[in-house]
Amino acid sequence: MKFFTTLSLATAASAATLEHRQAPSKQIGSFSASCIPHSAFCNYQFTVKPDPSLPPSHCNGTYIGSGTLPAVGDGKCADNAAYTWGIVSTQDGGYRFGVWYPLNSRSNITYCHQITPDEIEVVDGGSVQTAHYIGPTEFDATVDACF
Ligand SMILES: *[C@@H]1O[C@H](CO)[C@@H](O)[C@H](O)[C@H]1NC(C)=O
Ligand SMILES: *[C@@H]1O[C@H](CO)[C@@H](O)[C@H](O)[C@H]1NC(C)=O
Repeated sequence: MKFFTTLSLATAASAATLEHRQAPSKQIGSFSASCIPHSAFCNYQFTVKPDPSLPPSHCNGTYIGSGTLPAVGDGKCADNAAYTWGIVSTQDGGYRFGVWYPLNSRSNITYCHQITPDEIEVVDGGSVQTAHYIGPTEFDATVDACF
């Protein structure tokens, strides 16, 4: 929860001045978020295109979720140490996903995407339920979606 409140403020302060030279969106690809049936673990995996002309960065992580997609505040990208990513549940039953990186020593720029409740499927396995993301695997994360 912490990361969006602190980072949104940092982004808000810098967004206006830097908008003209920062891309307004980042392309996210191969997005998957899935809990492993009968396991406490859930996997997140996706790519970020830093720039349309550059190869994508690969991000992934496995977290304890016990059937529900868990919040993440410090996700990493194996081939791009500048990126951090996170996901938090929202009041409507969906999730807000974000990727950020340092703009300078004082602020990060954050790109967000809202996952709607209908993009989360919960498979009922009797005593255990297992959540999966079933929305589009490619989408744009935008600075605007963070507000
Ligand atoms: C997940 O990230 C690790 C590094 O943190 C990397 O070695 C591994 O190949 C990645 N897995 C996938 C499926 O991308
Ligand atoms: C920028 O993001 C990093 C990684 O999440 C965090 O450690 C740092 O405190 C953030 N900086 C600001 C100014 O919010």
